[in-house]
Amino acid sequence: MLDKKILKNLVILGTGGTIAGAANSASDNVGYLAAQVGVESLIASLPGLSERLGGTGVCTEQVRQLDSKDMDWADLAAIAVRAHDCLARPDVMGLVITHGTDTLEETAFFLSQVLPADLLAIKPVILTCAMRPVTSMTPDGPQNLLDAVTLTVSGAGSGVLVVCAGNIHAARDVQKVHPYRLNAFDSGDAGPLGCIEEGEVRWQHDCAFVNRRSADWDMDLLRETAWPRVEVVMNHVGASGAIVRSLCARSTVGDSEVSGLVVAGTGNGTLHHALELALLEVQKQGVRVVLSTRCAYGQVIPSGLSALPHANGLSPVKARIALTLDILASRAKHG
Ligand code: SIN
Repeated sequence: MLDKKILKNLVILGTGGTIAGAANSASDNVGYLAAQVGVESLIASLPGLSERLGGTGVCTEQVRQLDSKDMDWADLAAIAVRAHDCLARPDVMGLVITHGTDTLEETAFFLSQVLPADLLAIKPVILTCAMRPVTSMTPDGPQNLLDAVTLTVSGAGSGVLVVCAGNIHAARDVQKVHPYRLNAFDSGDAGPLGCIEEGEVRWQHDCAFVNRRSADWDMDLLRETAWPRVEVVMNHVGASGAIVRSLCARSTVGDSEVSGLVVAGTGNGTLHHALELALLEVQKQGVRVVLSTRCAYGQVIPSGLSALPHANGLSPVKARIALTLDILASRAKHG
């Protein structure tokens, strides 16, 4: 058990994104390059930081510097390993990770699945971001970063959380829902866990961290270089089985074999009969298939009509992460 009295440092890991982005003009909030400014500079110019830190020490580390649309399994694994090593230090009370908004929900969910539950219960990992670059005449990154630091230092957070536009979201529920507005994230039916206003954290829901995995993840598995290939396919008007069959055909030179498919069904996970037929075919051949919904709110309610397992309320991209981790873990167990 870690002694809470000696937890006195906050670590900020930089990974890139718009929060570190730069444009040629202060009035340009879209034609910028993400991941241009180092995390150390973001912190150095942050107004009000020392008041919010109180006596807490802060150190920064640039783990990655990229546009989050380009994130890969190796990047997620590197972030998770650094996060794990920092959290394991007795002097560290929590982590802030600066990240691009585009795939932030995937990294947040991934970290919530692989980092040890006993550490996350007492040391939060807070991801934050921005919709406008550093060079904007009104950047949102500094406030988001200050709020993330405030939440970490408050000692009230646990688990993997996302802070954006004054709201606190849980990793499992959060989703980017808008390509431009500053409040770009939403937590669907669950709603945000709380908010941060003028340095005060106000909870709307209990933030107690619940570990949903039955056992801790083996961090050594993140060193795996051959990640299972899991693709997302979607149901839509005129959907057919062609994409599924061509993805699962074994003749594609240079591409790894597909081990799993997440299907974003319409409504309550409904599928065009031609797409469903192809999915059932490949399922019989050993491809793991999971059913989610393309609806932004709600989750698939099992009706007994589909032979496909559902995604337990996860969005398609998070269901893909869960399925990939499941396949990786079962390969490690059964060889
Ligand atoms: C990114 O996701 O890295 C770029 C877009 C953003 O951060 O808003």
